[in-house]
Amino acid sequence: MPDQGPPPSDANLSRRSVLAAAALAPAAAIVGAQRAGGQTATGAAGGVRPAGQARAALVTGSSRGIGAATARRLARDGFAVTVNCVVNRDLAAAVVRDIERAGGRATWLQADVADPRAVRRLFDHHDRAFGGVDVVVSNAGIMRLAPFGTMADEDFDRMFAVNAKGSFNVLREASRRIRHEGRIITLSSSITQFTSPTYGAYAATKATQDMYAAVLAKELGERRVSVNAMAPGLVNTTLFTDGKTQEEIQGFVERTPLGRLGEPEDIAAMISALVSRDGAWVSGQTVFTNGAVVSA
Ligand SMILES: NC(=O)c1ccc[n+]([C@@H]2O[C@H](COP(=O)([O-])OP(=O)(O)OC[C@H]3O[C@@H](n4cnc5c(N)ncnc54)[C@H](OP(=O)(O)O)[C@@H]3O)[C@@H](O)[C@H]2O)c1
Repeated sequence: MPDQGPPPSDANLSRRSVLAAAALAPAAAIVGAQRAGGQTATGAAGGVRPAGQARAALVTGSSRGIGAATARRLARDGFAVTVNCVVNRDLAAAVVRDIERAGGRATWLQADVADPRAVRRLFDHHDRAFGGVDVVVSNAGIMRLAPFGTMADEDFDRMFAVNAKGSFNVLREASRRIRHEGRIITLSSSITQFTSPTYGAYAATKATQDMYAAVLAKELGERRVSVNAMAPGLVNTTLFTDGKTQEEIQGFVERTPLGRLGEPEDIAAMISALVSRDGAWVSGQTVFTNGAVVSA
């Protein structure tokens, strides 16, 4: 089977004509196609959650940091949750155990988001466990810092493979499978506004998420799916603290008007709000959560 095999030829034909029409009148063409048969340029809908079935969330990169806090928080909110890691299987399993001990439902799978086949396996695993997906949080990410002059090709390439292409892999699969009235969140960063030396390539990978969210929100609006980018400020995880001295970290704290680093739970709380019923009208936005280190 090819990695991203085309759908059956009939669907291909109708998809091509939808795309041709969309080039002339995007919104009208896509909405028209949905009304005609449910297949759209954005792929088949994920259907409607059966009555009585718990809402289910898939959080990439949730073995630690912001993702782990989000998985725990969504489980507390009543979601069945799929946890994901790329290396730290023991940490992913521990997040699942915590959720289960607290009375929730969870499963985990190791999958590298940079690999589209692995992403498909992750969603298959989730669907088998919980019957469908209502919330996808594309959180997995890495950061490699260096001035332009010394940034290594392999660091640049891996960051784009995980943060930009990897998140695209996740959002593409989410767009195909998310159920009616679902929610998609992708992790951007306030660093896109808080420009800082050595952050050039990383910030560029995060800026892609703002574009993804803005465009995907328009593609999925007809299915009442909201899509947003969450842009944290400086959050107390190893992604931020590794490689920095205490003095450097203190320097960032001093530039944060609210006087502290964010904790992963601060970000998880905002994600929880966005995917709650009260968040239904927020879509296509980049939501800055950063202790006023930048204001949008
Ligand atoms: N911390 C901040 O200050 C901050 C600020 C703004 C935005 N963000 C964004 O928030 C997200 C989470 O950051 P964090 O600070 O929580 O990072 P973190 O503590 O380093 O955790 C990263 C998570 O992503 C997973 N991961 C890494 N590469 C992966 C891959 N290829 N496939 C699947 N999972 C992968 C890791 O799994 P393993 O445990 O298996 O390695 C881990 O669970 C990232 O997208 C980051 O860019 C963070």
